[in-house]
Amino acid sequence: MRRYEGSHEGKPVRRGKFLETLGGARFPTPPIWLMRQAGRYLPEYRAVRATTRSFLDFCYTPDKAVEVTLQPIRRFGLDAAIIFSDILVVPDALGQKVWFEEGEGPKLEPLTDPVQFGQLSRARLPERLAPVYDAIRLTRETLPAETALLGFAGAPFTLACYMIEGGSSRDFAKVKGWAYGHPESFALLIDLLVEAVVDHLTCQIEAGADAVQLFDSWAGVLPEEQLFSWSLEPLVRIAHAVRARHPRTPILAFPRAVGPAALMYRRPDAFAALSLDTGIGAHWAARELQPHICVQGNLDPIMLVTGGVAMEREATRILDKLGHGPFVFNLGHGVVPQTPPDHVAHLVDIVHNWKPSVS
Ligand code: CP3
Repeated sequence: MRRYEGSHEGKPVRRGKFLETLGGARFPTPPIWLMRQAGRYLPEYRAVRATTRSFLDFCYTPDKAVEVTLQPIRRFGLDAAIIFSDILVVPDALGQKVWFEEGEGPKLEPLTDPVQFGQLSRARLPERLAPVYDAIRLTRETLPAETALLGFAGAPFTLACYMIEGGSSRDFAKVKGWAYGHPESFALLIDLLVEAVVDHLTCQIEAGADAVQLFDSWAGVLPEEQLFSWSLEPLVRIAHAVRARHPRTPILAFPRAVGPAALMYRRPDAFAALSLDTGIGAHWAARELQPHICVQGNLDPIMLVTGGVAMEREATRILDKLGHGPFVFNLGHGVVPQTPPDHVAHLVDIVHNWKPSVS
């Protein structure tokens, strides 16, 4: 059952500021949530995290995933929660070996040739990722009706980066070499990932996710023509397939570091909102993107570490440019571990107390 309209004692309640904004409503101040709002900067997260060694096992333990999803909501009263999981659960569910090494980030047994990825299969994905869907179901039952719950997935190109590089990379030479030199086989991998991501997002929506975000964190390493083929086109295919089944569920896209090529992603037929990284100017976004599509972003996560007057000035500048809507306040990338939690509380205050200047 869809949970768009919550109910309270039999009376329908509003869908909440975040979903209403994605649907085109305007409020005096915009909704706010933060990428990576659950994480190591919170002492209560570190306490729960310490109870499980393996990061993937942690993601696959619904009680713990629910608890850390709710922590930033309790502390800061944000307008949306994002389910605690990771983009790399998809390669894991496809049968690739994935693990996380303390202080080193993700590691994968890298794909080296097309024959090898022929062994990956999406047949068991819904079953293997059942703990994620259980966590979504439990979180939705616990969250206040006006707080939206976001599901998410990595975009095919970003997943392919990790799957071929075997982890994070400095130059992306392996994944690019494969995409440029063997486009036919790269297309087969992207097709598999499109289907897997459609399955994963559909299951998350059916478990209770109110909206979903696609993270294309490494889109910005591609030149324009490849950006179209390997980032935009697969994202649009995913969005169309998910919308065919769940036309009322908003889909947000985060094509990170693509610069002015963000114009290509201005596709209201596919996306309800575009999440902008810090490199995109708020003034430019207000002129070129916002008249066509809701935008989300884009405070520098390091401003959140700095805090104080510098953060206040920068957040207000963004609000003055984009706050008239349609707009969702967020960061340009995820919260970093050294962020003082008090600075997050201060940021939420700034956004809630912003006074639009009459223009
Ligand atoms: O609060 C939330 O945003 C929800 C949870 C979430 C995580 N990862 C938890 C996590 C989300 C949405 C992600 C997405 C993700 N994961 C992305 C896309 C967004 C981006 O940052 O560009 C990417 C590229 C990954 C892959 C990944 N997972 C990396 C590179 C790392 C290591 C870096 C690091 O911060 O350690 C992870 C691990 C990870 N995923 C952690 C968390 C909280 C830290 C590990 C830990 O707590 O032990």
